Amino acid sequence: MMKEVLIIYYSQTGQLLDILKNIAAPLQGDGINISYYGIVPDPEFEFPWKQEKFYDTFPESFLQIPAKFLPPKDEILNKKYDLIILGYQVWYLTSSIPINSFLKSEFAKTLLKDTPVITVLACRNMWIQAQEKMKRLLASADAKLVGHIALVDRNINHISVITISHWMFSGRKDKFLGIFPRPGVSDKDIAEAERFGPAIKEALLSASFSNLQEKLIQLKSVNINPFLVRTDERGNVIFSKWADLIIKKGGPGEPKRLKWIRLFKYYLQFAIWVIAPIVFVVFLLTYLPMSQKRNRERAYYSSLELKEN
Ligand SMILES: Cc1cc2nc3c(=O)[nH]c(=O)nc-3n(C[C@H](O)[C@H](O)[C@H](O)COP(=O)(O)O)c2cc1C
Repeated sequence: MMKEVLIIYYSQTGQLLDILKNIAAPLQGDGINISYYGIVPDPEFEFPWKQEKFYDTFPESFLQIPAKFLPPKDEILNKKYDLIILGYQVWYLTSSIPINSFLKSEFAKTLLKDTPVITVLACRNMWIQAQEKMKRLLASADAKLVGHIALVDRNINHISVITISHWMFSGRKDKFLGIFPRPGVSDKDIAEAERFGPAIKEALLSASFSNLQEKLIQLKSVNINPFLVRTDERGNVIFSKWADLIIKKGGPGEPKRLKWIRLFKYYLQFAIWVIAPIVFVVFLLTYLPMSQKRNRERAYYSSLELKEN
């Protein structure tokens, strides 16, 4: 019998779609049928971004408030899938608005219920807590998370902050000022995403996903950076205060709210350039005593397990 695979994704730049196509390439044929469903927000999020709009998407992203999107075609909705590959990106330490909107919809409940799901993530580098939120969203849609792949910008944190801003505001994935490295996931990592395909194919054909994540990890599907784990954790605490505050000031684009958004933007710069380096020094000072905690975190965040806290 034909195995049906659905690839659900959203991507402004096409980076994530390239990765998903490469992962899927080895699956094609041999009784496997692959369909794609690209989420289309209504209205679309403009790319390249205008600065104001970029920061103004923060409250709804972080608080996971759904927005409108076009319904999937009936031919997508009317099939039962053996596997769903869900490609998403991180906006403000959380899955992006189009992805949250889809996952909280009735369409997701129909498509994902009792279905094995592999999450494929491409972002700058801070995804750990976003994936925790993703585990919860998938659990509430009764999906079965069976694998996770995360591709990131491998340059050091502060370099990637500069280069991703250039990319998001200019729309060009090229070297900022001709001297910085190219932003985002490297062409090499995008091409080599193909290596995950055979392990996924084997699991799919044998209808057994129980040791897929283990195999993916051997293929280096996730890399846990303990310093980014700390920064992500702190960032979430502070973002939740800002989001709760700003959401009370009005809807997207409202002048009263935009004043607060501007303050948030300055705060974000301060957090990146002043607070993060302090967190890094503390991280180094506590490096030895924290080694067990780091090992526990590395194991947990590489796993598909969801701990309620
Ligand atoms: C509004 C916004 C916020 C973002 N926040 C984060 C973030 O918190 N962490 C991160 O690693 N990447 C972040 N990114 C980068 C995205 O995850 C992603 O890599 C980039 O937007 C590429 O776009 P695409 O996947 O839509 O093609 C953000 C991007 C946007 C547009």
